[in-house]
Amino acid sequence: MVNVLTELAQHVADGLRRSPKALSSMYFYDDVGSRLFQQIMELPEYYPTRTEFAIFREYGAAIAAALRAEAGEGFTLVELGAGDGAKTKLLLRELLASGPDFTYAPVDISAGAMTGLVAALQQELPALRVAPVVEAYGPALEQLRAGPDSKAVLFLGSNIGNFGPAERLDFLRQLAAPLTPADRLLIGFDLQKDPRRIRAAYDDAQGVTAAFNLNLLTRLNRELGADFDLAHWQHYTDYNPVNGAVRSFLVSTRAQQVHIAALEETFDFAAWEVIHTENSYKFTLPQIEALATEAGLRVVATFTDAATDFADVVLATQEQ
Ligand code: AVJ
Repeated sequence: MVNVLTELAQHVADGLRRSPKALSSMYFYDDVGSRLFQQIMELPEYYPTRTEFAIFREYGAAIAAALRAEAGEGFTLVELGAGDGAKTKLLLRELLASGPDFTYAPVDISAGAMTGLVAALQQELPALRVAPVVEAYGPALEQLRAGPDSKAVLFLGSNIGNFGPAERLDFLRQLAAPLTPADRLLIGFDLQKDPRRIRAAYDDAQGVTAAFNLNLLTRLNRELGADFDLAHWQHYTDYNPVNGAVRSFLVSTRAQQVHIAALEETFDFAAWEVIHTENSYKFTLPQIEALATEAGLRVVATFTDAATDFADVVLATQEQ
């Protein structure tokens, strides 16, 4: 707990001293934030989750076969950012049907989400071996590097969209590094489409996405003794169809000061100054191909829905 607090405090100190100010979307997912994200996934405007779900329903058996590929005994299925694991259950069922010789290692930063996931899996798939990891991606990747088993790594839901271009390549290279030729990666990418649909997915009519973004300030109030007055902040999001970036911001609706007790520091915000809180990049299939190549990977198979709104891409190392 002490460590987490220190890390959050350090992150906020760095982010709010910078210009323009920025905080990482990684900190959205306290237990309230994880629950709000569950609500987002149910929104009529938020299409990515149900689209990826439809891909898994349609191609689950083929995806499971592509993941198992050349894996031998004792294969580990690692999932980064497992959340509630609803989509993954479809794949887990397919994999169990083709042989129970694997361990599912979900990684999530939210302890609450993980507890719920593990309980649900024990109920619904009692034959499944589960080894949960409550960590950020970095430490989880370290563990991955240390493991001797052959592995498949899942990074679903377009979580990869949260990275900017440089970080994304870096992250993929880190994912690629511990892979042997028999290992596989499955990554979900949200694809570029009607820009109005994309924008609406991040600015829903019920205001759930706004509550999700603003919850970050509530978290800082609680965990760092900050005094953000939520009456003077608003959610704003835009989509740039040129580079595929959805960017989300918290906007200070007047000039104000915010004191953060844990940092013993007061921050000034001008009227309409923003804190950048999230990127949600959208991709094209050729971009995905190019990104894979640059990261030392190759595309083994691509699964999309009929409207090509979303793609689940199976990757492997370049040496055969
Ligand atoms: C969980 C990162 C995939 O970027 O679409 C949803 C998070 N933010 N609505 C996304 C999110 C606002 C989501 N990811």
